[in-house]
Amino acid sequence: MKRTNELFAIAATFNSPNDIINAAKSIAEAGYKNFDINTPYPVHGMDKAMQLKPSKLGYITLTFGLSGAVFALLFMWWTMSIDYPQIIGGKPFFALPAFIPVTFEVTVLLATLSTVIGLLTFIFGFPHNKHSLHDTNYMKKVSADKFGAVIYADDSMFSQTNINELFTTLKAESIEFIYHNEKESYPIFEPKFLTFLLAVALVTSGGTYFILNKLLFMEPFSWMAYQDKTNAQEKSDFFADQYGMRQKVEGTVARGYMPYPYMGQVNPPQTLANPFLPTKENLKLGQAKYLTFCSPCHGNFADGDSRMNGQFPNPPTLHSTRARDFSDGMIYHIITNGQNVMPSYAAQITREERWAIVNYVRVLQRAKNAKDSDIELIQKGLINAAN
Ligand code: HEC
Repeated sequence: MKRTNELFAIAATFNSPNDIINAAKSIAEAGYKNFDINTPYPVHGMDKAMQLKPSKLGYITLTFGLSGAVFALLFMWWTMSIDYPQIIGGKPFFALPAFIPVTFEVTVLLATLSTVIGLLTFIFGFPHNKHSLHDTNYMKKVSADKFGAVIYADDSMFSQTNINELFTTLKAESIEFIYHNEKESYPIFEPKFLTFLLAVALVTSGGTYFILNKLLFMEPFSWMAYQDKTNAQEKSDFFADQYGMRQKVEGTVARGYMPYPYMGQVNPPQTLANPFLPTKENLKLGQAKYLTFCSPCHGNFADGDSRMNGQFPNPPTLHSTRARDFSDGMIYHIITNGQNVMPSYAAQITREERWAIVNYVRVLQRAKNAKDSDIELIQKGLINAAN
């Protein structure tokens, strides 16, 4: 590497960690400010010997970490409470506990990124990529087995004779005069390299775009892949207000949806009758659905003795006179509409399944409170008690 005639620093090497600690102390005590120590491995107590102040890097980390936290919270507050408020699980719009993980992540992200970038730019002076200490004998030694001290020429107390004397009294094993490098060049800013970089960026991003957005969606047949439709939450220019999701037109019923007109009423009208006969098939369906949806509370045989007993407001038995006197329509109404703390099951159980459950509940009730005539029927073989 070419050097100028201008002195950059005077460097000395020492043989042991004790010597270098001693040297660092003496240099600092002599009043030099602009000096450095280079060792092949960290030497304990060096910061104190050099009288170094704590690094300023921590302030960068703290500032950016805190801004990350504030930014994340503000962002979530704005999106979740102002721009698009949605009720999620009955929580408040600004639900702090739910925002903690994201806030934490953004804090850590900004803190670490700013630390690395701060280190490279403010402390290492990126894009500077050369230092006059590079490629010197001194550097070779201190990156192998020697311990070095350099005093830079721009120190206000710099004097060749004094420093020579200081290093000699400290028993330096070698003293080296280091001259400035010739003007720094930045190979990363050379047009050739920049062009190469640009080409790599274009090829990788273009390739990724093509593969992810085109190649993966190149269907062999496009039958019905493209049609006029609006997905949930989408904008639509078809309507004047541009809302893709519409309220249903008054007086109409959505396809496959049978409205239940007695929602919210305590009793349904007497005319609400069971359209399904308790055939074997229908009872099988009712049993399956009863065991899935009702037994967790009312118990497998409707005795109100499920494991919920004592935890939830106790589910009542369905063998009470009250429940046995309910019309089919009333039980159907309770399943559909709910009753006090029992919620509506209209969303989980179809209309047909609900009537099947009613039939099955009737079977359970009759089994516990059989009539004398039932025994006659069994004896005559008209009812099969086994199933
Ligand atoms: C989450 C627990 C739970 C589930 C599941 C549940 N119920 Fe209930 N059910 C209750 C509770 C509690 C009551 C009492 C409500 C009240 O205080 O009026 C009740 C009341 C009833 C009643 C009225 C009883 C009366 O004497 O007033 C009927 C009938 C009934 N349930 C049938 C069903 C059927 C059929 C299913 C299945 C589709 C079902 N329940 C599912 C908890 C439940």
